Amino acid sequence: MNESRPESLASFWMPFTNNRDFKASPRLLVSAAGVHYKDVDGNDILDGTAGLWCVPCGHAQPRIVAAVREMVGQLDFAPTFQMGHPAAFELADKLMAYTNHRYGHVFYTNSGSEAVDTALKMALAYHKARGEASRTRFIGRERGYHGVGFGGISVGGIAANRKPYGTLLPGVDHLPHTHNLEKNAYTRGEPEYGAHLADELERIVALHDASTIAAVIVEPVAGSTGVLIPPKGYLKRLRELCTKHGILLIFDEVITGFGRMTTPFAADYFDVEPDMMTTAKGLTNGTVPMGAVFSKAFVHDALMEAPAGIELFHGYTYSGHPLACAASLATLQVFEEQDILGHAKGLQDYWADAVFSLKGLPHVIDLRCIGLIAGIELAPIAGKPGARAYAAFKKAFADGVLIRVTGDIIALSPPLVFEKQHIDELFGKLARILKELD
Ligand SMILES: Cc1ncc(COP(=O)(O)O)c(C=O)c1O
Repeated sequence: MNESRPESLASFWMPFTNNRDFKASPRLLVSAAGVHYKDVDGNDILDGTAGLWCVPCGHAQPRIVAAVREMVGQLDFAPTFQMGHPAAFELADKLMAYTNHRYGHVFYTNSGSEAVDTALKMALAYHKARGEASRTRFIGRERGYHGVGFGGISVGGIAANRKPYGTLLPGVDHLPHTHNLEKNAYTRGEPEYGAHLADELERIVALHDASTIAAVIVEPVAGSTGVLIPPKGYLKRLRELCTKHGILLIFDEVITGFGRMTTPFAADYFDVEPDMMTTAKGLTNGTVPMGAVFSKAFVHDALMEAPAGIELFHGYTYSGHPLACAASLATLQVFEEQDILGHAKGLQDYWADAVFSLKGLPHVIDLRCIGLIAGIELAPIAGKPGARAYAAFKKAFADGVLIRVTGDIIALSPPLVFEKQHIDELFGKLARILKELD
């Protein structure tokens, strides 16, 4: 393993990165275990973000490491087009059990972005199979993030992710976002104000007609635009309206799936059942890239009515990759054996108290939290949006904690195996950093 500095940083065009700034003062991670990374200088970095929301069980879980090692020696690759391997089927059954059998089928992808584009295509194929081929529109939401495929950026609502890329998918409309600091600042859990914003779907339906709309896709808790927690009753209302109009409801659970809310999925936490869920990240504890679309049986079954032959012309070479399946099977075992959800539940009040201990510190204009997620919104520096939070991110790394920032919002999502002392360290350091920031 190479733990030394690379000779050059020039060739790697880094994703979602200020490449020039990074390469002037790089942050290089060389190993990880438990809730810590180690950087190239040998410093321990407390992981306040579970990597990128994707390591709920902590780094280098021995069971997962062993399962991946074993599988790579046994079956390094196997196609899943007109073929199969046992682990892919075993995992699918286990995943259905993990949903309490409320979902009937799972389709494997390699990332959240692919899961989103897969779910959108399934929605189109479902309606077409049922003789409603006119249902081709998608409804996303402002400030939504659904990955970086053309489908995902079209239904997504982050301007910077859309602007350079032309006309995107046609026939997409957006619900308004629900973020309202005037009404909801400093709320623990779901804010009171804003359920009525779901009724905007009625306006969109009136404009386009339900017969043209295939699906609504939302993140139950939006992460990438800075931890936007749904108002009380909002998701239930969306569910009712989608059912009323025959529109499929897709929850993008790429960050909320696998325990982030202390329940298997955010759908469980909010007690709202979408027709499809897109997942990734925690699915393999971040070890091997994998995404998955969970679908209700009726979506899948509609496509099985077609004349014999391939039912869905869609898939990825690496769908159900053996290493990913092995990693995910082991991850589900760790969830059960170590009662990861129980641990997270036991921690969430302590977490929320720690988040709210930052109230009144310089620059803080909102604090919000749910499950083991927190958003700390900072006042922007005039004329330099994002600069203050980015400075906090760099200071935090230098101080030995990994946080994530988006715009001027600090988003925290630690491994679910955090302990109280890690929470104390994270928020102790953050408090100091906030006091030092310009
Ligand atoms: C809600 C949501 N959907 C989709 C994605 C895209 O996932 P990936 O980066 O694996 O393509 C993300 C990534 O952060 C996400 O947060």
